[in-house]
Amino acid sequence: DKKITILAIESSCDETSASVCVDGKILSNKIATQKIHEQYGGVVPELASRVHIQNIVPVVDAALKEAHTAMNDIDAIAFTQAPGLIGSLLVGTQFAKSLALALNKPLISVHHMQAHVLANLITEQKPEFPFLCLTVSGGHTQIVVARSPLELEVIGETIDDAAGEAFDKTAKLLGLPYPGGPLIDKHARAGNPHAFTFAEPQIPGLNFSFSGVKTSVLYFLQKQTKENPSFIDQNLDDLCASIQYTIVNILLKKVRKAVEKTKITSVCIAGGVSANSGLRNALTEMGQKYGWKTYVPEFQYCLDNAGMIAITAYHKFLAKEFATLDISPSARAEW
Ligand code: KG4
Ligand code: ZN
Repeated sequence: DKKITILAIESSCDETSASVCVDGKILSNKIATQKIHEQYGGVVPELASRVHIQNIVPVVDAALKEAHTAMNDIDAIAFTQAPGLIGSLLVGTQFAKSLALALNKPLISVHHMQAHVLANLITEQKPEFPFLCLTVSGGHTQIVVARSPLELEVIGETIDDAAGEAFDKTAKLLGLPYPGGPLIDKHARAGNPHAFTFAEPQIPGLNFSFSGVKTSVLYFLQKQTKENPSFIDQNLDDLCASIQYTIVNILLKKVRKAVEKTKITSVCIAGGVSANSGLRNALTEMGQKYGWKTYVPEFQYCLDNAGMIAITAYHKFLAKEFATLDISPSARAEW
């Protein structure tokens, strides 16, 4: 049988990434992270698109090279079509469309959030269907039921901030640079998660809310620093550990509810926040306690990456779901 070789491109936010996948196996996953946004305390969309234009050719080249794949070996070109920053998405979309036209190969459009979920299929020990996936990133917080690679249903989501935003915004209150999520994780390792308690939202069903956590942390810090201006410095590790504990707790309580409701006991996590060590450990512990099978993608497939776009595209290729050359990207997209 002829092998199916896919070149995938991800450019939805501030990571330019390319991946080569052969028969569902990822041979390369190159990621160029844009450092320029750090100084602005968040991603600047206009700058992001410009840097994608600079990065895309070298990143695609590097991905092909690492996979020992020539342009002529490619059977389809995949790209992230939605959701994301429109200017960023446009760069990857135009690049993929041009390449598909030039090589006369089919084009596959991929939904970024579906791809985060399917990142769990990249490893050897993959979950069997159906499984639940908690997808937690800088822009989204969702509980998804996956019945097959292409049959995904969102059964819960945030009504305000995303979990990643909760990490990044509280990190900002602590004076940490953007993106603060990984820094909270780092400091939390040395801190006591029960040192401080922050308000937990009471949202019915499987939806989430995180704006209250941020407010609760804000008021607490205002009160403490009034009495002791060095409060944050003196308690940084404990503050990070307690904030992380609060956010992870909110997430996992809903996952438990989702398991109870659906009776599905294979549980995955995905998205940038799934790189969080507190979340990874707590999910594993909870799985052992309740008898679930838990899965955590390899670190490089948690953050935005083209490997997850490639694996999704592979399943779309098998299902013959191709896009036409008149397709355009979309900042927001239902699925
Ligand atoms: O999936 P992702 O790379 O981009 C989006 O699609 O949003 O997720 C980025 C988010 C950021 O909010 C970042 O702070 C958070 O993931 N993040 C973390 C960790 N690593 C990344 N949050 C907590 N702990 C981490 N280790
Ligand atoms: Zn993402």
